[in-house]
Parts: sequence; C-alpha cells; structure tokens
Amino acid sequence: MSTFNAPKGIPEYFPPSSAGFLAVRDALTDSARRAGYGYIELPIFEDTALFARGVGESTDVVTKEMYTFDDRGGRSVTLRPEGTAGVIRSVIEHGLDRGQLPVKLYYTGPFFRYERPQAGRYRQLQQVGIEAIGVDDPALDAEVIAVADQGFRSLGLTGYRVELTSLGDQDCRPAYRAKLQEFLSALPLDEQTRHRAEINPLRVLDDKRAEVRALVEDAPLMVNHLCERCAQHYASLKATLEDLGVKYTENPRMVRGLDYYTKTTFEFVHDGLGAQSGIGGGGRYDGLMAELGGQELGGIGFGLGVDRTLLAAEVEGIPIGEAARCEVYCVPIGAAAKRRLAAIAGRLRASGRRVDLAYGDRGLKGAMKAADRSGARLALVLGDRDLESGTAALKNLETGDQSTVSLDAAVEEVLRVLNDG
Ligand code: HAM
Repeated sequence: MSTFNAPKGIPEYFPPSSAGFLAVRDALTDSARRAGYGYIELPIFEDTALFARGVGESTDVVTKEMYTFDDRGGRSVTLRPEGTAGVIRSVIEHGLDRGQLPVKLYYTGPFFRYERPQAGRYRQLQQVGIEAIGVDDPALDAEVIAVADQGFRSLGLTGYRVELTSLGDQDCRPAYRAKLQEFLSALPLDEQTRHRAEINPLRVLDDKRAEVRALVEDAPLMVNHLCERCAQHYASLKATLEDLGVKYTENPRMVRGLDYYTKTTFEFVHDGLGAQSGIGGGGRYDGLMAELGGQELGGIGFGLGVDRTLLAAEVEGIPIGEAARCEVYCVPIGAAAKRRLAAIAGRLRASGRRVDLAYGDRGLKGAMKAADRSGARLALVLGDRDLESGTAALKNLETGDQSTVSLDAAVEEVLRVLNDG
C-alpha cells in the first residue's frame, strides 16, 4: 500500500498503455479538425449556476453528481461535469456568434461527475467534444454524427451502433409530455416511479425493470407526436445520414441525462462494454443559448468518451497507440563522455529524433542492457579512451553490427543511418 492513492474512481494512464489513450484522443479530434472545427480551451471549473441552468436543475448530474465548492472568495464553483454549457457561455461572452455561422468548435479534456465508480464509469472522465452553433439545419446534425462515426471508424472500431431519435421542440414536446403523463397516471406504478413520471416522464419509458417495461409497452412515443417542422427535420436528417453512409438504428425510448436536448438526439452504443455501453452521445439544443442569456440560436454537438473508446478498442482486440520508443540510446562511460554525448543527444533531438541516454553512471554492461530494453535501433557508445581518439562506437542493436564513427561527424552519421532505414 502506498501512502497516497489517486482519488477513487479515476483512471490513470501511464506508459506503455497511455500511448493508446493519446491515439484515441487524437483520432477523435482529427476527425473534428477535418470537418472544420476549431479548438477551444475552456476552464475546468465554472460558476455553479451555469451548470444548474444549462444542464438542468432536475438532472442526476446536477442534483447528485457535481463537485461543487466555495472558493476562497466565497463564490460557488463547480468542476465541469460536461462541456456544452461552458462552450455556449464562452461563445456568448466573447461574441463568437456575431461572426460567421455556424460557429464550429472542438474541445478535449477531463470532466467530473461524482458517480458510483465501476468499469467504464469514472469520476474523472475524458471526452472529445464538438459543438456547431447558430444554424438549424438537419444536414449539420448529420455532419456531427458523421464526424463521430468517422472518428471511431478511423480507429478500426466496428462493434458499435448509432442510436437515433428526435425529442421534439418547445412546440410539440409539452403536448406530448402531457399525453404521456396522462397515460402513465393510469398505470399501477410504485410511488417512486409515479414521482418520476411527474418530474421527467420520459425517464419512465427507459426503465430497466421488466414489469415496468411491460406496462409502458404501448405508451405514446415522441417520434409519433412531432410537429410538422420537427418531423421534417428528422426525416431530412435520416436521409442525409443514408447519403453519408452512416448506418443508424432508431431508438424512440432513448433518454439522455442532460436537459437541454431538442429534436435530434443520438448515442453511440458499443456492445462489448457491458452496462457502460455509451461511447459517445449528443444532440441538438435549440433553447440553451437563450437560457444562458444569449441570442435565440440553436446548436448541436457531441461528447465522445475517450476512456470508454479505449476500453472498446481493447475489447475488439485492436492494437492502438504504439508507445514511443527511442531510436538512439547513448551510452557514456565516464563524466567527460557523458557531457559530450549529452550534447550530441541534444542535437539529434533538435533534428527530430527520439533519443535517450544512460544516466546514473552505470557500467558498460548495465548500460547496454538498458539500451536493449529501450527498443532503440542504434546505440552510440563513448568511453574516455574513445574521447582521446575522437571517435565513438555506433552499434546497430537489431543486427549487432558495430562501426566506428568520428565524434565530430557523429550526429550526421547517426541521422544518415536512421534515414537509410
Ligand atoms: P454525455 O452523454 O453525458 O453527454 O457524455 C458523453 C460521453 O462521455 C458518454 O457517452 C460516455 O462515453 C462518456 N462518459 C460520460 N460519463 C462518464 C463516466 N462517468 N465515465 C466514463 N465515461 C463517461 C455530454 O456530456 C454532452 N455534453 C454531449 C454533448 C455535446 N451534447 C451536445 N453537445
């Protein structure tokens, strides 16, 4: 047992497996960049009220899962549980919505939710997210879904599906909600479920218990009660996804954990992950900007779970992210040789090569063992006697071949050998 442990429920990534983490994150952000999304770096904590208003007062995220505390000035701040509210706050604050629309942004980093930790469910989770703000166009919704799909596909993932639905808007949802509540109130539900039906009736449709499922089997569904505008938006989105070759399944009972969604909502579900199967999710949020004090502009985006995507790749047996091995390992024997090799290593690194050096004044044997273990192709060995003659030994660790190189030309010679493959 070490004296200190990381806080509970937080995955840490270190070599060699951290290379996989970076590869997943970079593949997902690459997909966003290729579609014209620009990077936004956001605060890790914000005014608590931003999330209460943005994410929704009655959501589990806000009522049970936020890391909220007073700072030393007595302001209530919260570690960001998600990215969308912060992006919209920043867009409003800096007037980004006064330029060309849509504003297309991507972000990546840690988010914090006080959830019950288990495999794939963490208290510090990593997301790559995008938001496209200011244009209400189903083709843009399709783009957002396609960017996520492309990101997953570029990693070689195949064992997931896209679930899709429409949650309607402020015109059609209230009437549907009333209809659903009326249906639910006639059912023999337990007290707690009845209470849930009053606050968030859609949640009851997603109940995992078989007896509740049976009761709500014939419940009215939002997709069958969309207003004309929302129905057209949904139909056009589906047609565009087909044009783009993105396969989807409709899930009219989908429930998202955040309150801001309108119209298009989607989830990427991976079958190999057990209970925590959502590797990404998102949707349209046409009322959020106005709710946060900005213009009446809508938007759409996603958050993809980097941790869960990495788990999914492991489950599918996809090797991703090779740990960066060094190419040249320098072995100095003696203090003067170390100074000279450190300088040579510096020049090789400046030329873009990955170079390491045996520190700690080990003997030749131990240092050569370290060179082998490093995975480097070449070892550059320098002892005091070589220094006098102005040469070093260059050993090819793959073939065992060894040659003598002039110290003054050592950098060029090493670069030449590496370039020759
Ligand atoms: P979300 O569905 O709450 O959406 O989270 C997005 C993804 O983050 C999930 O699909 C999952 O992969 C990952 N995730 C969430 N919670 C955890 C956790 N406790 N442990 C590990 N992974 C987790 C959002 O956050 C929205 N802001 C997405 C969005 C952007 N909607 C519109 N724009």
